[in-house]
Amino acid sequence: MIENKVQIRVLQAEDIEKIIKVLKEPYMIGREGQYEKYFSRCLEENKTKERVTFIAFVDNEVSGYVNIIFKSAYPCFNEKNIPEINDLYVVPEYRRRGIGKLLLDQCEGFASRTYEYIGLGVGLYKDYGSAQRLYTKNGYELDGNGLMYKNVPVEPGKDVFVDDDLLLYLHKKL
Ligand SMILES: CC(C)(COP(=O)(O)OP(=O)(O)OC[C@H]1O[C@@H](n2cnc3c(N)ncnc32)[C@H](O)[C@@H]1OP(=O)(O)O)[C@@H](O)C(=O)NCCC(=O)NCCS
Repeated sequence: MIENKVQIRVLQAEDIEKIIKVLKEPYMIGREGQYEKYFSRCLEENKTKERVTFIAFVDNEVSGYVNIIFKSAYPCFNEKNIPEINDLYVVPEYRRRGIGKLLLDQCEGFASRTYEYIGLGVGLYKDYGSAQRLYTKNGYELDGNGLMYKNVPVEPGKDVFVDDDLLLYLHKKL
């Protein structure tokens, strides 16, 4: 049972080097500096309590991570004080063993102390297929505001570019 081997805790400065080492997907190669900056910003925003970043470890090796952003950039969450689960990621060799769900559970447990709902955005193209299934299987429902591009509603008849900014948002009652 992977559950018994996974340890999840809040990001610490010394984790950043370990995280960078496991980010090996083609789109990540050569971007180590960007990721280092990103996780340093996460660390700062954990200190200021703008976000919390959880890291999953298996046998002391990083197997995944996720953030909760407390003031979402998505207006519909922000207005309703719904924190946003952001940038959920499981290292490919650890996928399909329940770690994504454990990270979601961690976020939900943490947020349930203070919030009534938690939310997240998901992309529409196939790379997001696993995430789409993970979220719907775990009780996330569409928020009903339709398709967003860069957090602005997509109007019927308008063209949009299909990329990581084209999102549907979902929420879950805690
Ligand atoms: C999405 C992601 C975090 C899932 O992590 P994971 O550890 O593999 O997820 P789990 O093992 O907890 O899977 C739980 C459920 O999600 C669904 N799921 C996960 N991967 C799937 C796949 N490849 N195909 C179909 N369903 C999948 C299944 O319903 C699965 O339950 P099951 O294994 O009992 O059928 C991981 O695939 C990932 O990091 N993807 C790239 C980054 C990404 O898309 N992040 C989300 C951004 S919104």
